[in-house]
Amino acid sequence: MTSVIRTHGLTKVYHTGAARSRRAASGQLRPDAEAQPGPPGAGKWGRAASRRLRPGAEAQPRRAGTPQVRAQRGVDLVVGAGEMIAVMGASGSGKSTLMNILGCLDAPTAGSYELDGIPTGGLTRDQLADLRNHKIGFVFQGFNLLARTTALDSVALPLLYDRSGRVRDARAAAAAALARVGLADRAHHQPSELSGGQQQRVAIARALITQPTLLLADAPTGNLDSRTSIEIMALFQELNQQGLTILLVTHEPDIARYAKRIVDMRDGRIIRDQPVTDRRSAAADLAAEPVEPVAVEEAA
Ligand SMILES: Nc1ncnc2c1ncn2[C@@H]1O[C@H](COP(=O)(O)OP(=O)(O)O)[C@@H](O)[C@H]1O
Ligand SMILES: [Mg+2]
Repeated sequence: MTSVIRTHGLTKVYHTGAARSRRAASGQLRPDAEAQPGPPGAGKWGRAASRRLRPGAEAQPRRAGTPQVRAQRGVDLVVGAGEMIAVMGASGSGKSTLMNILGCLDAPTAGSYELDGIPTGGLTRDQLADLRNHKIGFVFQGFNLLARTTALDSVALPLLYDRSGRVRDARAAAAAALARVGLADRAHHQPSELSGGQQQRVAIARALITQPTLLLADAPTGNLDSRTSIEIMALFQELNQQGLTILLVTHEPDIARYAKRIVDMRDGRIIRDQPVTDRRSAAADLAAEPVEPVAVEEAA
């Protein structure tokens, strides 16, 4: 059986521009390499061209000495259909980089990634975008909704970019997706008229509208209070129960226990990968805990 995700030796190296300025600041930069102005009117390309023509200027690898951030150092990850995985790890351990590569938003420096049996290496940007539109729903910590845009329009938006023409009636599909996340009655509200939890539900509906195989969520409860976080996890568990494969990043062990499997990262590597033995039901936790009568103003 094909896996939804199969990576081998996934590597991502970021070249940051910092060294150049750091070397320049410490006087290590050859005085003629960068500081010297080009011919009048040549601008930056003129300088680059004159630098390239200087003998010996390209003798060393262009990126020698440039600081590198090795955000992924050989990640092997196989995710089967119907899994629900929490990715954990300290800030900077490479969780977002991994999610972005899995979501076809970023390409690895080395290693391979197969999404739903399709090797992604060598695909063009357009092909990657089509693959993303077909297979992946992405949910972010900050909801990423457009201001002054109704829930219905936000949710319908991905269909505008879907060139397959699978969905005929975008508004009907958006309404159905909103109903699926329990927001049928908020279709005409803008983000400013919705609570954080409701905004995240809109974002989840937007992720679902293309009927993805895989839902990727980078710290989806990071901006939410604990009860709302559990409500979002109840929704994820329900969607997972319906067959959606889910990978989510979280910093909170309590949230990770709603997943079926926890992957721990450190310094761009997976250091632990285990099933959750004491898995919790978010719906049961919500039912067991009475709603506190909090004095918040009605969002809508
Ligand atoms: N676009 C980028 N350019 C340069 N370095 C980056 C970029 N994105 C992430 N990094 C670096 O890669 C490492 C992993 O980052 P990230 O994947 O965002 O970690 P996490 O999500 O676990 O906090 C960090 O050192 C971070 O600074
Ligand atoms: Mg991150």
